Formats: sequence, structure tokens, C-alpha cells
Amino acid sequence: MDAKVNPAAEAQAERRQAHAVIVRNSRDGDVPAMLAIYLHHIRRGVDPGIEENEFETPDAEDLKRRRKSMQRRKMPHILADDGGVVVGYAYAVPFRKRPAYRYCVKHSIYVNNDHLRRGIGRLLMSALIDSCAAAGFRQMIGYIDAANRASLALHEAFGFRQVGYLPSVGYKFGHWTDTIMVQRSLGPGATEPPKS
Ligand SMILES: CC(C)(COP(=O)(O)OP(=O)(O)OC[C@H]1O[C@@H](n2cnc3c(N)ncnc32)[C@H](O)[C@@H]1OP(=O)(O)O)[C@@H](O)C(=O)NCCC(=O)NCCS
Repeated sequence: MDAKVNPAAEAQAERRQAHAVIVRNSRDGDVPAMLAIYLHHIRRGVDPGIEENEFETPDAEDLKRRRKSMQRRKMPHILADDGGVVVGYAYAVPFRKRPAYRYCVKHSIYVNNDHLRRGIGRLLMSALIDSCAAAGFRQMIGYIDAANRASLALHEAFGFRQVGYLPSVGYKFGHWTDTIMVQRSLGPGATEPPKS
């Protein structure tokens, strides 16, 4: 028996095949799309809430300011563009402000809820790792909610190791939450001193 044909799904699949998803630097004009992706996920509670001073949800101006400030520091802020639609974004920020930590970044990655499990996370993670390594960073750190299996699996696939378990550090949706800290090295890692 023939499988049922869904013309709308078929047309969508054809459109997807017509162009490849590209990864590019984000621009100011992308902020509303990135914000929509972010707000969707934090409302569902997947983010461990690592951003300092973020007791209120950010607005477009906050995101624009942060993007500009990271751009000035030459930190990657990238997105996945599927034929003009922002389907995900990722960025790195300094791990800590003190100069001793200048070769270490912490990162975030978010994929549009309608585009999960299409390889966008992999695409972004790979590009983010390459950009951070090319910029001379040596260690990359992520904080992941312990219940976030998708993110834990994605990080594991890219060689991140679990280096810390922070029990009950979050409180959301009426219960305490644990955070897992993951880390991987970049480029030569700690096998040689930094170039500058
Ligand atoms: C985590 C996230 C970025 C993954 O993005 P994605 O585009 O769906 O991931 P991909 O399709 O590239 O999948 C890559 C790998 O991640 C893992 N993965 C992704 N989603 C998964 C899920 N729901 N359950 C288990 N593993 C999953 C798998 O190992 C997968 O490889 P496979 O498809 O070969 O099995 C996405 O789920 C997301 O944006 N989640 C909400 C925001 C978030 O949690 N960000 C991280 C904060 S630390």
C-alpha cells in the first residue's frame, strides 16, 4: 500500500532542499528573530540561567547591546540562515572578566523550535568551535540544565566532558534545578602556551 502523501510537507521538503542552511555572523536586523527563539526556550525552562543580572527577560535593545559588545571583543556571534529564516544562533562570551581567563569562553546555542533535529545544532556548534579556536581561545565551557538531554547529547557529540555538577543552583517552575558544567579544549588546548 502506498504511503499517504502530504503535499504541504512535500513542498516544504523541496523548498528546504533548494537551498542549503548557511552559518553567518549575526547582524542587528537578526535580533528580533534571535530574541523570539530565545524567549520560546526560556519560557519552557531549558536555559540554566547563566546570564548574570538577568532577573527579567531581555528585550531587543539588550540583545543588540550584548551583540555589539561581543563584536567589539571579537567574540563569535553566529546564526544559521535557512533561505532567509533564522533557524538558530550561537555565541561565546568571556568565561570570566579577569585577564587570567582571557583564553577561555563560555557559550550558548539555541535552535528554533520548529527546526529541531535537522542538524542545525551540529552546524552551529561546529562553526562556533572553529571560530573560537581560530580566535585563539583554548577552552570552551557550557552550563547545561541537568534535565536538558538534547543539549547534553549535543555537547557530548562534540567532545565536551562533564567537569562539574552544581546541585540545586536554579529555581524555576516551582522546583530546584541542577546545572551540569561541560568543557572541551580548543586547538592545542593546554599543550602549549598562548601565542600572545
Ligand atoms: C540542544 C539543541 C541546540 C540541539 O539542536 P538541534 O538542531 O535539534 O540538534 P541536531 O539536530 O543538530 O542534533 C545533534 C545531536 O544532538 C543530540 N540531540 C539533539 N536533540 C536531541 C534530543 N531531543 N534528545 C536527545 N539527543 C538530542 C543528538 O545526539 C543529535 O545527533 P543525532 O541527530 O545524530 O542523534 C536544541 O535542542 C535547542 O535549541 N534546545 C533548546 C535550547 C537549549 O537547550 N540550548 C542549550 C542551552 S545549554
